[in-house]
Amino acid sequence: MTTPVVTLREITGETVRTICELEPHEAQSGFVAPNAVSIAQAHFNPDAVFWAIYAGDEPVGFIMWRPEDDGASCFLWRFMIDGRHQGKGYGREAIALWLEGLPAQGYTLARLSYVPGAAGPHGFYLARGFQDTGETRANGERLMELAL
Ligand SMILES: CC(C)(COP(=O)(O)OP(=O)(O)OC[C@H]1O[C@@H](n2cnc3c(N)ncnc32)[C@H](O)[C@@H]1OP(=O)(O)O)[C@@H](O)C(=O)NCCC(=O)NCCS
Repeated sequence: MTTPVVTLREITGETVRTICELEPHEAQSGFVAPNAVSIAQAHFNPDAVFWAIYAGDEPVGFIMWRPEDDGASCFLWRFMIDGRHQGKGYGREAIALWLEGLPAQGYTLARLSYVPGAAGPHGFYLARGFQDTGETRANGERLMELAL
């Protein structure tokens, strides 16, 4: 069986409900906000960029980022693959697609924060080349970054 091609697609009035219904495994719910909350927040932040992640024609996840004030770095704000679709390489492909597009837009640094915990995404991001900065936010989230 051929592996479906992963793409990032605009969310439309027709697809928004389906994207809002995508969710990680229950044990991972503390690691990312529900997609409905993220999409609502995006509508109050004109800098937010958000897409649905598709594998072939199947919606499998959600990604959202925003530029930072320095103009050189961007911040991965939300990222998730639905629990039914995890472990198939879709997260790896989606992050690669996001990162690939950034240098052409003038960005030199990708940053993110994660909630530490068992089954959390720290190892996933390390394997993608992100490094810990050693900073911890007031809410306990830890920061990572990747030079582009
Ligand atoms: C993190 C997440 C996006 C990974 O997506 P995924 O589609 O399951 O990941 P992939 O199948 O592409 O895995 C790619 C590689 O990372 C590894 N990996 C996946 N999740 C991992 C984790 N939590 N820790 C360490 N490694 C992980 C896989 O084993 C795979 O390794 P390989 O390259 O050696 O085969 C997904 O687990 C998720 O949505 N988690 C809940 C939400 C979350 O934590 N989001 C991040 C908010 S900061």
